[in-house]
Amino acid sequence: MTAPLKHSADITVDVALGDRAYDIVIGRGVLDTLGTRVAALRPGARTAIVTDRTVAKHWLEQTERSLAEAGIPTSRVIVEEGEVSKTYAGLEKVSEALIAAKIERNDLVIALGGGVVGDLAGFAAAILRRGVDFVQVPTSLLAQVDSSVGGKTGINSPQGKNLLGAFHQPVLVIADTSVLDTLSPRQFRAGYAEVAKYGVLGDEAFFTWLEANHADIFSGGAAREHAIATSCRAKAAIVSRDERENGERALLNLGHTFGHALEAATGFSDRLFHGEGVSVGMVLAAELSAKLGLISEADATRVERHLASVGLPTHLQDIAGFAQEGLADADTLMALMAQDKKVKRGKLTFILLQAIGRAVVANDVEPALVRDFLQQKLSG
Ligand code: GLY
Repeated sequence: MTAPLKHSADITVDVALGDRAYDIVIGRGVLDTLGTRVAALRPGARTAIVTDRTVAKHWLEQTERSLAEAGIPTSRVIVEEGEVSKTYAGLEKVSEALIAAKIERNDLVIALGGGVVGDLAGFAAAILRRGVDFVQVPTSLLAQVDSSVGGKTGINSPQGKNLLGAFHQPVLVIADTSVLDTLSPRQFRAGYAEVAKYGVLGDEAFFTWLEANHADIFSGGAAREHAIATSCRAKAAIVSRDERENGERALLNLGHTFGHALEAATGFSDRLFHGEGVSVGMVLAAELSAKLGLISEADATRVERHLASVGLPTHLQDIAGFAQEGLADADTLMALMAQDKKVKRGKLTFILLQAIGRAVVANDVEPALVRDFLQQKLSG
């Protein structure tokens, strides 16, 4: 589909999980409907909004107003922005604040923010009084298409990213696409890597559509809602078939085995945002697939070209500070990958491509081959 799209009414995507099914509501201005939706879903509930300082500046008042207009009591918990909050200390702060706000079993926690806030607030909700329901109000593109959907919640350990957590599905996701207008171009691009991921892993037609329509997604045209809805539908379908990642859900980790190692090698700092790590990681996965003879070099180049065309980093050398500080050697990157959750009995799992739009889980890739491949990539 390449014809320009028109802005449409809100789009609702259903995450079909039986009695834990929930809606993802996508559209410009849907944040104003939060109060009425929460009132219908959980009459009489109190709510606590967990957010960070930057998001609070832009969106907290509007969120509180929507809830107040529907007669819903709210309290607020504001954390520091960034991974510094996805820690034991951040979890303690949020948990104690929720207890102090008297959030009980039938009440709701509302996660207003990007991936960090969603993961942290979701995990705090999962363990508070052995489980309180929560609503995701994702305010970054990455959170709207990935982290707010599917119920993965958690915090980091000093020993690795997302090593502590729980599957805890939200009861509602409100993805207001107009809130993305305040994101920096770099943050928006980082989220776009996860949008492109859905095309690369399972939907060649969507990837082709993205190649033709990405400018409209970035400028806030109707293609934005279409891209977010298509991404959420793809994720919802996979999550409803494999909620606990016993199989197919692992495909959503395309680009993440390499990406997480690169994030760790750059100290989880501003040198590399998560989505940027996924972009470089996805290109490495495509190139490794080509090296193994699974796809053609032309397909790997096509993935690289599209991500580069929107300004995403696609090579190790594109990572900020590579020329000055370097990155890590191939052995260190291998060790970092071995620390990832995707390790099973010491074996690394990679998501590889058999075609654009057809990803597979590979548990049997020879570590020495991956090490040599990384060595070669590091030397450009
Ligand atoms: N972000 C990968 C997943 O939710 O499974």
